[in-house]
Amino acid sequence: MPSLKLIEQFARKNYIPVMLDDTKELLFDTVAKCQPKRILEIGTAIGYSGIVMLSACETATLNTIELLETSAQMARENFREAGVIDRVTIFLGDAREIVMQLTGTYDFIFMDGPKGQYEVFLPYLTDLLEVGGTLVCDNVLYKGLVEHVPENKRHKHITVARNMNAFLHDITTNPRYQTELFRIGDGVTISKKLS
Ligand SMILES: C[S@@+](CC[C@H](N)C(=O)[O-])C[C@H]1O[C@@H](n2cnc3c(N)ncnc32)[C@H](O)[C@@H]1O
Repeated sequence: MPSLKLIEQFARKNYIPVMLDDTKELLFDTVAKCQPKRILEIGTAIGYSGIVMLSACETATLNTIELLETSAQMARENFREAGVIDRVTIFLGDAREIVMQLTGTYDFIFMDGPKGQYEVFLPYLTDLLEVGGTLVCDNVLYKGLVEHVPENKRHKHITVARNMNAFLHDITTNPRYQTELFRIGDGVTISKKLS
C-alpha cells in the first residue's frame, strides 16, 4: 500500500490540492463512525481522500468523480497500489453532468469539487443521499474569506467566497439537514440528512 504520506508529499510538491491533515483525521473518524456502504466523492484528485475513506471502512465502495484525466489516472494507480481498486469506480468528467446521470443512492457523500458551485450541487446530492446519510463538505470557510470577504482580494476568490457563503447559509438552515460546522483546516461541514 502506498504510504498516504508519500501521496500527500507528491501532491504538495506538484501543487495538486489534497485535504489538510486535521481534515483528513476528521474525515477518517466520521467514516469510521458511520460505516457507510456506498460513498460518493466529488473531486478525486489523485485518490488521497478516497484511500482515507476506504481505509476507515473496509466494506464500503466508492464512486468518485474527477474532471482531469491526468489526476484520475494517478488516482487509479494509487487506488491499485493501496489494494482498494476493486471497491472504486472513477467517473471522468464534469461532476455537474455526472451527478445528474448517477443512479442508485449513497449513504455517505464527500463534497470536495469545484469550490464556487457547492450550492448548485446541493439539490442533486440531496436526491442521491439516503435519509440518515451523511454529507461532508470541505473548504466551506474558503481561506477564511467566507465570513469576512475583503475588498482587495482577486475577483475570482470573492465570487467563490460569496457562493460558498450562500451554500453555508443553505446547508446550516435547511430543515432536511442537521449540520455541524468544524473550524478546522479550511472549514468542514458534516450534515446528517433528516428527511
Ligand atoms: C480539492 S481537490 C480534491 C482533493 C481530494 N478530495 C483529496 O483530498 O485527496 C478538487 C478536485 O476537484 C476537481 N474538480 C474541479 N472541478 C470539477 C468538476 N466540475 N467536476 C469534477 N471534478 C472537478 C479538481 O480537478 C480537483 O482534482
